[in-house]
Amino acid sequence: MAKKTSGHRDAFKTWGDVFDDFTSQTVLKLMGQGYLKGLISPLKIGKEANIFIGRGEQDQLVAVKIYRLSTCDFNRMYEYMKADPRFGTLVKKRRKVIFAWTQREFRNLMIARDAGIRCPVPHVGRNNVLVMDMIGGDTPAQQLKQQEPADPQKFFNQVVQMMRKLHKAKLVHADLSEYNILIDDEAPVFIDMSQSTTHDNPNWRMYFDRDIHNIARYFGKLGVKVTDESLKELITND
Ligand SMILES: Nc1ncnc2c1ncn2[C@@H]1O[C@H](COP(=O)(O)OP(=O)(O)OP(=O)(O)O)[C@@H](O)[C@H]1O
Ligand SMILES: [Mg+2]
Repeated sequence: MAKKTSGHRDAFKTWGDVFDDFTSQTVLKLMGQGYLKGLISPLKIGKEANIFIGRGEQDQLVAVKIYRLSTCDFNRMYEYMKADPRFGTLVKKRRKVIFAWTQREFRNLMIARDAGIRCPVPHVGRNNVLVMDMIGGDTPAQQLKQQEPADPQKFFNQVVQMMRKLHKAKLVHADLSEYNILIDDEAPVFIDMSQSTTHDNPNWRMYFDRDIHNIARYFGKLGVKVTDESLKELITND
């Protein structure tokens, strides 16, 4: 048994630095607890996390987001979280900050899901590892940055509806752009919500305005008639 465990650990290690002993153990625990059957292959390397394709409890594909313990910018994470009353009493220690960041993404995705937004449903967040739905299934969905929508106006309208729902749920995505919107069946899916924050955060308006600016800029370039002001109105009117 011990041999088999270390075999898995070694297999993970071929996928790079993200798999220090602690992280490998976390993944193995999630496998032991039935959240995961295993990891299949690397999908993407982001700024703070590596994303893997995994096999879920029902044999479905899942996305496994693993925050890198050694190289992610936990000072930035800490500064972001300090202003979020949900995490206001956080101790500034690298691992604690990264674990809280992972939990924050889990909770934000739950809020978004409950608000009726298309986003990956999170299955479990443990330490620096988050398991969630794989968007696109067998062929992972592309970022809007990589694939333009066939009907920009229709896609824009769907993004607006999702931003309205988030706003009603008093959550701001806070990093919304063509990089964090996936295109699945010609419809948008919001991802990457670790930095999302509730309206209790005194800075929420600044993040909200930035999201609006990014979305208006992207769809403006595709020929949709939109300004920051008109988009804000579409999101906030009753
Ligand atoms: N649930 C998911 N389903 C399908 N693809 C996903 C999922 N989560 C992440 N990805 C892919 O991995 C990429 C990086 O994920 P994410 O944006 O959450 O991480 P990140 O570390 O913040 O990356 P970045 O620095 O690039 O924003 C996404 O752009 C997307 O292509
Ligand atoms: Mg991202």
